[in-house]
Amino acid sequence: MNKLYFGDNLEVMREMDDQRVDLICTDPPFNSGRDYNAFLTDSLAQSKAFTDTWTWDDPAKDTRANIERRARTSDTYKALDSCLKGYDLVLQNAVTGNKGAMRAYLAFMGPRLAEMHRILTDKGSIYLHCDPTASHYLKGVMDAVFEGENFRNEIVWGYKGPSSAKRWFPRKHDIILFYGKTITSFFNPDGVRVAYKRITGTGASSLTRGNRTPEEVQALEEAYSERGKLIEDYWVDIPSAGHMSKKERLGYPTQKPRSLYERMIKASSNEGDLVMDPFAGCGTTIDAAHTLNRFWIGIDLTILSLDPMRRRLHDRHGLEPSKDYEIHGYPTNMQEVRMLVRDEKKYHDFSNWAVTRLGLQPTKSVGDGGRDGEAEVGHITLWDPEEGETTNTRIFAEVKSGKPTIDQVKSFCRTMDKHNAIGVFITIEPVTSGMRQEAADMGTFSHNNETFPKLQFWQIDDAYFENPSSLRSLIRLPKQWLEPMRKMERHFTDTQMTLNLR
Ligand SMILES: C[S@@+](CC[C@H](N)C(=O)[O-])C[C@H]1O[C@@H](n2cnc3c(N)ncnc32)[C@H](O)[C@@H]1O
Repeated sequence: MNKLYFGDNLEVMREMDDQRVDLICTDPPFNSGRDYNAFLTDSLAQSKAFTDTWTWDDPAKDTRANIERRARTSDTYKALDSCLKGYDLVLQNAVTGNKGAMRAYLAFMGPRLAEMHRILTDKGSIYLHCDPTASHYLKGVMDAVFEGENFRNEIVWGYKGPSSAKRWFPRKHDIILFYGKTITSFFNPDGVRVAYKRITGTGASSLTRGNRTPEEVQALEEAYSERGKLIEDYWVDIPSAGHMSKKERLGYPTQKPRSLYERMIKASSNEGDLVMDPFAGCGTTIDAAHTLNRFWIGIDLTILSLDPMRRRLHDRHGLEPSKDYEIHGYPTNMQEVRMLVRDEKKYHDFSNWAVTRLGLQPTKSVGDGGRDGEAEVGHITLWDPEEGETTNTRIFAEVKSGKPTIDQVKSFCRTMDKHNAIGVFITIEPVTSGMRQEAADMGTFSHNNETFPKLQFWQIDDAYFENPSSLRSLIRLPKQWLEPMRKMERHFTDTQMTLNLR
């Protein structure tokens, strides 16, 4: 059964049996030092999908202590522990700066790679996508965890794109570290042969060297073109994410091209195999796996990525959660909502989940900034048909997990007034008549000859889960704000094509 998990992949993988997965293709954070903003809709609103900055802090130290403990009983963790201790020396046991960040990043990656190793079958393989920021360190960790002799390739994925580099050459490649679980891991290079480039004139390719006549060149071309050419360990034929077609681009900040992942999957698995991506992002690996008739498991920490994944599986393959694949850690009823809310670590995910139900984007907090906090849900420029110019109006949402108070509602109203915003106050507990009166006092807002209440309440309840689309009639917002993510082009499998032909 195909599965999507929302949560920390370490926790999910630790629950999995040994030797479960045939192939892992994954693209973790790179230690890029960047925080990514997700543009999940066409609105100007931004949302922080995840951060890729690392510090040598208490969780990093705890993780290292945990690796040390596990090293007593596991050979893989023992090798990992030795490797990281070696790197501690290289990085001078630094606790700050780039070196401290690298130690923290490796402490994060190490146990996850050890678990990936454990759950892979003996014929399985892993493709670890990274870049030169950390690829040299990761290769050492991979050699320790997967053992050097199972190293297959360091694949260079080269691409074009603008660069503002002044003091070095433009950095235009990623690294994909390819390892087998064992020496006999499955590999099918014939599955990913590419067409030979046309040979024009003489001397254009090694095939034409010597004094071949044009007829001989043509005969050679035909012979070679039938099977195509084996691909080397440098891939320059797949354009960067920036060049992806509009149909493929979802707006997830680190989305990778599907064809890149299709190549890995075709080369290292068979139809019916189980492919996993523990850092699934917006679901490139799982989309590629489904397209190629493999089973799949995707894990991601942030609910913001599960949404595009879900929509992608729906738009391209017609798949519905719970019916066509399992979905874990994403609330599908009130009981699960309450569990999310109770978990301190997941509170933000609850808040993100709630505001994204309205088609809005969580951004930074504004207003009273209490724990229950509120998400400013971005702003969008609306076309004003009368004035013939654009106006800036924002919509805010405030999410309250506990019992809401009238003071909170009043404070939210003040924030809305200050920012010229309209708002949705989201709760789990019921709101009082006094609160409703506050909302009525706020008045209305007009756009495109339509009138909307300035402040609305959404109490999340069982009725929502029974019929999620009912929210659209319950909460009325100008259409632009409800624009869903771009629809992806439907994928038709070979089987469907055959059926259609019959
Ligand atoms: C570089 S992105 C992957 C992008 C993906 N290849 C795509 O095409 O969309 C890395 C992802 O790892 C996720 N992530 C980071 N830490 C995680 C963790 N501990 N468990 C699960 N996912 C995590 C982030 O939320 C992010 O979506």
